[in-house]
Amino acid sequence: MAKAQTIIDEEVLDEIEEPKKRKKTKEVTNETLTFLESLNGIGPTTRKRLEDAGFGSKESIALATRAQLTEISGIAEKTATLLIREARAQFDLGLKKGISYQEAAKKRIKLQSGSSVFDELLGGGFESGSITELAGENGCGKTQIVHQLAVNCINQLKKDVVWIDTEGTFRFNRIKEMAEDLGLDHEHVLERITIGRAYNSEHQMALTEEAITMTPNIGLVIVDSLMSNFRNEFAGRGTLAERQQLIGKHLAFITKQAEIMNFVAVVTNQVAAKPDAMFFGDPNRPVGGNVVGHTVTTRIMIRKGKGEKRTATLTKNPELPDGKIEFAVIAEGIRDYKG
Ligand SMILES: Nc1ncnc2c1ncn2[C@@H]1O[C@H](COP(=O)(O)OP(=O)(O)O)[C@@H](O)[C@H]1O
Ligand SMILES: [Mg+2]
Repeated sequence: MAKAQTIIDEEVLDEIEEPKKRKKTKEVTNETLTFLESLNGIGPTTRKRLEDAGFGSKESIALATRAQLTEISGIAEKTATLLIREARAQFDLGLKKGISYQEAAKKRIKLQSGSSVFDELLGGGFESGSITELAGENGCGKTQIVHQLAVNCINQLKKDVVWIDTEGTFRFNRIKEMAEDLGLDHEHVLERITIGRAYNSEHQMALTEEAITMTPNIGLVIVDSLMSNFRNEFAGRGTLAERQQLIGKHLAFITKQAEIMNFVAVVTNQVAAKPDAMFFGDPNRPVGGNVVGHTVTTRIMIRKGKGEKRTATLTKNPELPDGKIEFAVIAEGIRDYKG
């Protein structure tokens, strides 16, 4: 029994139009059904409209924006939203030829940081299609960096920003200062940033999924900070396994969407003292254990120096050498450190 095809999110079944034609218990045994045919809630009229508009496949819907689906095929906005959500959830990352990786790599975008040496450390900037982690102590400048990246995303990529704020540290005023320094209309910039203030881990995961699904033309997804809610809620050792499982799920969702939609994903992270390395190297390590350490593609450690001076150390990336640079956090944003 091809059960997977019949089990569609109840929410989708309930919301998608033409509910009269839906047969909840219908078994789908035909493996060749298209994505649209496999959704019981999508009637023939809607299906034809979508197919005629070039949205017959799961891939085309997963990569479409809500506006495209409603404008080109004329379907309801709610249906479009649910279809996109379902298509993205089902998107299968099946077998591919090596050459397709070369094609994907060509499409990867490098989002600039504001500091040219910082960008060089990252081979040109923060890369789309995977997660980059910024880790460091309180006040080292992680939140400043993501403010600058948000402004740069709109300026350089002309794309929208999703910002999941778990500590209430988003500051529209910093966006204004950084935008104005680049000669941008700050209201236009703020208009393109969707902020989800997440009060607990469940809220954080739900808001992330909702914001990514609902925002057309995403260039950057920020989670600032990744672990604070999880650390507050799952304090005891007994709940650690559950916590790690949820974080894994959270990061897997972001990774998958970043790959499919080719946006830049940046998460910030706290650090805790390593019990085993008191005397050598950096005494701190990012929290979240192996789940975070293995899932992020790029890991950057940020350290505070004197005044505006900061250092960034690249400690993990599959194709770049490790390295360390100096940069500055100033009123205008992130810049090269001039000494
Ligand atoms: N307007 C500003 N001008 C210059 N430096 C600033 C400004 N705002 C914040 N900073 C610097 O950024 C620091 C806060 O960094 P933040 O990004 O909030 O740290 P983190 O998120 O790593 O805890 C401040 O202590 C200050 O050094
Ligand atoms: Mg912060």
